[in-house]
Amino acid sequence: MMKKLFIQTYGCQMNLADSEEMASHLLGRGYALTEKLEEADLVIVNTCTVRDHAEHRALSFLGRLRQWKREKPGRHIIFAGCAAQRLGEKLKKTFPYLDLVSGAREIAHFASLLDSCGLFPSAPGGSPDQRGITGYVTIMRGCDFACTYCIVPSVRGPVHCLPSKEILANAACKAQEGHPEIMLLGQTVNAWKEAGKTFADLLNEVSALPGVERVRFVSPHPAFITPQFLEAVKNNPKIARHIHLPAQSGSSKVLKEMKRGYTREMLLEKIAALKACGFAISTDLIVGFPTETEEDFSQTLTLVEQAGFSAAYCFKYSPRQGTPAAQMPLLSEKVLEERLDILLNRVRGLAEAAYGVHIGRPAEILMESPNKGRTSDNFWAQTKKSYTIGSVVQSEVIDSDGTLLFTRD
Ligand code: SAH
Ligand code: SF4
Ligand code: F3S
Repeated sequence: MMKKLFIQTYGCQMNLADSEEMASHLLGRGYALTEKLEEADLVIVNTCTVRDHAEHRALSFLGRLRQWKREKPGRHIIFAGCAAQRLGEKLKKTFPYLDLVSGAREIAHFASLLDSCGLFPSAPGGSPDQRGITGYVTIMRGCDFACTYCIVPSVRGPVHCLPSKEILANAACKAQEGHPEIMLLGQTVNAWKEAGKTFADLLNEVSALPGVERVRFVSPHPAFITPQFLEAVKNNPKIARHIHLPAQSGSSKVLKEMKRGYTREMLLEKIAALKACGFAISTDLIVGFPTETEEDFSQTLTLVEQAGFSAAYCFKYSPRQGTPAAQMPLLSEKVLEERLDILLNRVRGLAEAAYGVHIGRPAEILMESPNKGRTSDNFWAQTKKSYTIGSVVQSEVIDSDGTLLFTRD
């Protein structure tokens, strides 16, 4: 019987794409994917360490695998990703039943790691999981910024851009496999460049591939949202009109201490320019950065109003070992909790309002099931008639319940 692989992924889309990549190597070594832990022979835990909580969840899952491994002989565990990169081989002391530790930076050598541990010889395997209309394509790895709260540059390393030739071949392959939506991935995805080519050029080239209906990308950094970028994407309707643009704070003072490289005013200018091109904008916000005063925090609240975000993911500041901000005295947990609560209350209504704005407007929907799909600006829409999955439907929004748009056709 074919051996089964179970993957538990924590963290961002980059990690999801890395999980896919690791899976594809193991499918070539006789494994088939399963969604049931109890029938698995191999578990990959692909981890995140961006906040302490994320790392903790991965480690406690690993703790539970001790018993899982005992239950049946021949079971194996691979611990991968960013927490694996941070903690390295010392993990094997606390978790001696781990078979392989493969840090996030080692993804390019994952096949040779599998070879060298000798546990996973090649064998005919299962077929890849092809569900979902989105195909993920990694275009760059690492980060050259040095935001003072962030551990990502230290675990993922400096920027490495993949060659456009390779990216286009990957995207074409995903489209042919039945993914009409391509999501380009990178920690600072819009920092991608190549001699004579910009990120905007790449977007346009990917969108022109046969079978590609829509192109998304995550996570962009505000520094690379330039007039040239907007000019280049403006006339290409295949580039989705949604951008996840992490603001982090609404206070220019805190942004400076975070070393984000922009002020509140610069950010608002970019947001206005994006909106003029039809983009809906979601964001990430951190509360309780060590130097954040009540006044700074209130500026984050007013930014939410002024920017008109369609969604905001809010995080309590979490000190990460080795980062500059971790040297600063922390605010009390009580202050962090209070601020998070206030901010969450503010952002709660954003999505509903953003859905409401669509009523009476045209919408272009990429169908993910016969009656449901997503608009270019990333809102869920339900159609009256049934359509082929993966097709693009032009219609008009006639109503919304705050979580779904309803179309005329
Ligand atoms: N590369 C992306 C963000 C990657 S991390 C960017 O620069 O925009 C994802 C999100 O986690 C960040 O946007 C930030 O809001 C949050 N985050 C990162 N480090 C954090 C920390 N130490 N504490 C709390 N939130 C953090
Ligand atoms: Fe972290 Fe900043 Fe790099 Fe984003 S840009 S990954 S927040 S250091
Ligand atoms: Fe987490 Fe690593 Fe992504 S730390 S957010 S999984 S890059």
